[in-house]
Amino acid sequence: MLFLLFLAANILVLASAKGSHISNQIHLLRPQSGSGGSRVKGLSCQSWRYGVETNSVIGWKTIPVTCEDYVGHYMLGSQYRKDSNLIINEAFLHVKSLSLSKNGVVKDVWVFDIDETTLSNLPYYAQHGFGVELFNATLFNAWVGTGKAPALPESLELYKKLLKHGVKVVFITGRTEDQRTITETNLKNAGYHTWDKLLLKDKAFSGKTAVEYKSAQRKKLEEEGNRIIGNMGDQWSDLLGTNTGIRTFKLPDPMYYIS
Ligand SMILES: *[C@@H]1O[C@H](CO)[C@@H](O)[C@H](O)[C@H]1NC(C)=O
Repeated sequence: MLFLLFLAANILVLASAKGSHISNQIHLLRPQSGSGGSRVKGLSCQSWRYGVETNSVIGWKTIPVTCEDYVGHYMLGSQYRKDSNLIINEAFLHVKSLSLSKNGVVKDVWVFDIDETTLSNLPYYAQHGFGVELFNATLFNAWVGTGKAPALPESLELYKKLLKHGVKVVFITGRTEDQRTITETNLKNAGYHTWDKLLLKDKAFSGKTAVEYKSAQRKKLEEEGNRIIGNMGDQWSDLLGTNTGIRTFKLPDPMYYIS
């Protein structure tokens, strides 16, 4: 008898305790083949995630097939939210420890990445195996084009606190210039109403890695007289390179890798 015990319906409640609310979405996890959802021996998905999050497992294109359910449960369950919450709390403690510039000569800026940092593409990835499928730019860009990515509630909370403290927000994203309008609309609809700069990747950077592109953008920001007090992203390539800011903050992302 084939039990579909592992066909778990997960309710994605991307709504923080503090009130930012995203409508519930139900995503089905794929049933594992085999009676009782037998697991492939040898690979601990938790170890794999640890390796990924510490930038020790690099250069991968898809998550291990046997970790689809693990990653799905992590992303849709409470652990992803708790992990994100810890990081934004640390980030805000850091901000409070600084003496922020009051005279306006130096602008204190916070750099945020967009995808899986300020906006969540979880509704897309839930339909595409949480990273088990090879990235498909056509399909992903079609999703981006809907402008429906919800905010990561924790990042939105940090964003609001930063604004309240007079910190300027700069978004640096690997999204391309042709996605500017929809990205602006999406950010605003998700609750990010204002920003100092929205830096998207233009043709001059095509073929460059995210590390090269983002370092160059941050260098320019600093040359313009800004002080990068913090830099937050879900990829190490958001945080490595030059001009990384006073501190960097890594949000979880076990679904994909960008160099
Ligand atoms: C991306 O998805 C579309 C639609 O399913 C498909 O036609 C196309 O071949 C895919 N591209 C790649 C590179 O897999």
